[in-house]
Amino acid sequence: MNPMLPEPWRVKVVEPIRLPPADERDRWLREGGFNLFRIPSEAVFIDLFTDSGTSAMSDSQWAGMMMGDESYAGSRNYFHLADAVREVFGFTRFLPVHQGRGAEHLLFAGLVTSPGMIVPSNMHFDTTRAHVVTQGGVAVDLPIPEALVAGSQHPFKGNIDLARLTRLFEETPAGRIPVAMLTLTNNAGGGQPVSLENIRAMSALCKARGVPFYVDACRFAENAWFIKQREPGQGARSVRDIARDIFDATDGCTMSAKKDGLANIGGFIASRDPSLVDRLAQPLLLYEGFPTYGGLAGRDLEAIARGLREVVDEEYLRFRVGQVEAFGNALLERGIPIVRPPGGHAIYIDARAFLPHIPAVSFPAQALACAIYREGGVRPSEVGTSMHGAFDPETNEPIPAPLDLVRLAVPRRVYTQAHLDYVVRVVAAVWERRHDIKGLRWVHAEGALRHFTARFGEVD
Ligand code: F0G
Repeated sequence: MNPMLPEPWRVKVVEPIRLPPADERDRWLREGGFNLFRIPSEAVFIDLFTDSGTSAMSDSQWAGMMMGDESYAGSRNYFHLADAVREVFGFTRFLPVHQGRGAEHLLFAGLVTSPGMIVPSNMHFDTTRAHVVTQGGVAVDLPIPEALVAGSQHPFKGNIDLARLTRLFEETPAGRIPVAMLTLTNNAGGGQPVSLENIRAMSALCKARGVPFYVDACRFAENAWFIKQREPGQGARSVRDIARDIFDATDGCTMSAKKDGLANIGGFIASRDPSLVDRLAQPLLLYEGFPTYGGLAGRDLEAIARGLREVVDEEYLRFRVGQVEAFGNALLERGIPIVRPPGGHAIYIDARAFLPHIPAVSFPAQALACAIYREGGVRPSEVGTSMHGAFDPETNEPIPAPLDLVRLAVPRRVYTQAHLDYVVRVVAAVWERRHDIKGLRWVHAEGALRHFTARFGEVD
């Protein structure tokens, strides 16, 4: 029997999509300065830019949206969300926020209270790092060495390096590490999971040092599914039980409900420290909203409450993670170099291996992402020198990032297997004529977050 069952849902509402003709795609690329952030979504056929906020909601979630209680204080949907957070995560105290970075803002503004404080993690996501740095802190990534080897088949490439964490704890004066983080799954490192063993070991280290331990929980359900599949002794346990074990080991979490909340907007911060929650409620009031809505409408709170229960459904997760895996394997069969094993929410193509004739200073990942769009109207995102690289402040020339990857993120419950088969054919066609792809150079690049607005030109 084919272990891969089809989509465990049927389609009730459709949103038409259109493949613009080749000359139109070429025009969009040139007008957008070879930057896929600058292309309107209507010019995209299959949009794999992100899995964030792009989920298709269920009929139950849409029905719940009609039951939004838009009262300023004490909306019933807030209490529904509180029930779901207690049931799925085990946290009794939480604050809703408009999205994940709202939670990061509150946590780091609350805990990183003096310059130079260090916040370790397996790997900080961009916004997490930016919030630590904005508070004057130092964001330190401590991935295991296998995380940086694209071909390594380690089952938990998202693990934190416990030896390096121990050393950091020993070398840093008490009180200079206000919080330690773990990103589940590790988005910046290829969507790779963290094992329960690693989570518990980190928890014990943090407890011994009196350092609060928080999880960036965006993709917690996908991580729990990987634990069930790959970790010895976990196969017979339910994803719900595994998820509870994960959070039982922590002091709290930040959550973007735009991923494993199966919602289009929203998030929360949860903590076991009631005095911290009370303290963070003050900036919440200033920046997000009253503590029972935190910048969200009542209907959004309801969609998240229902999404959190749906996301731990094992038939859903089997399909979800299986779909991404089958997508990655189909690319591998065509010889396309991807980060292995396939991650939970996305496939990452190794652009330097795909385009060895383009030096890293000529943005191979950006060039490949544009070539994939030009070939078939598929929009990937660049995770490489444009997004993570630096630049020489004197010459404004790019300084390459450690890796040049192209991310094909798969929105939840949105695309069918046929859509992803099409994407595989598009990438395979680009692979066939890879030698013709040209590198890129900046023609306009300004500011620290330049990848959002930069314009590129082709190098001849
Ligand atoms: N943490 C991780 C691991 C993320 O992947 C993201 C967002 C955030 C925090 C911030 O959450 O967007 O709700 O404010 N990742 C998106 C992506 C943008 O495309 O990977 P947010």
